Amino acid sequence: MTSRHDGVRVLTFGTFDVFHSGHLRLLERAAALGDELVVGISSDELNEAKKGRAPVYALADRMAIVRALRCVAGVFVERSLEAKREYLVEQGADVLVMGDDWTGRFDHLSDVCEVRYLPRTPSVSTTAIIEQIRGET
Ligand code: CTP
Repeated sequence: MTSRHDGVRVLTFGTFDVFHSGHLRLLERAAALGDELVVGISSDELNEAKKGRAPVYALADRMAIVRALRCVAGVFVERSLEAKREYLVEQGADVLVMGDDWTGRFDHLSDVCEVRYLPRTPSVSTTAIIEQIRGET
């Protein structure tokens, strides 16, 4: 995706591993806040650093799934959690959307774009699904 665009561009970030209904609801609500939604997908290395485990689905597959959604205009790779500001500028973001597990953590970026936190969908997460399949819960 390039930064040249008309209308309101919304950006969000995440791993989106073992895609589930909580992911879909977050993306649909984020898309509804603007004209096009662009999603930064965590690299396999970033996910490992962030969550202490390799993703189940490799980056190319996670990107293909998210890119195929009707509510998503484009995807790019997020390689560093610290580079949010650069990504927002590069992508020409008007709005940054994050789940409310991050509330307050990105307020310092409100000089670049509007920052919104959306409520997470209760009772579903990639970690819980993996544990359930492994028979750990
Ligand atoms: N998300 C959500 N509701 C959920 C789970 C995730 O709204 N029940 C949102 C997160 O807040 C984030 C995005 O979906 O904005 C991507 O989250 P991600 O970390 O990839 O998914 P999780 O299911 O939270 O993964 P994990 O259990 O590995 O932390």
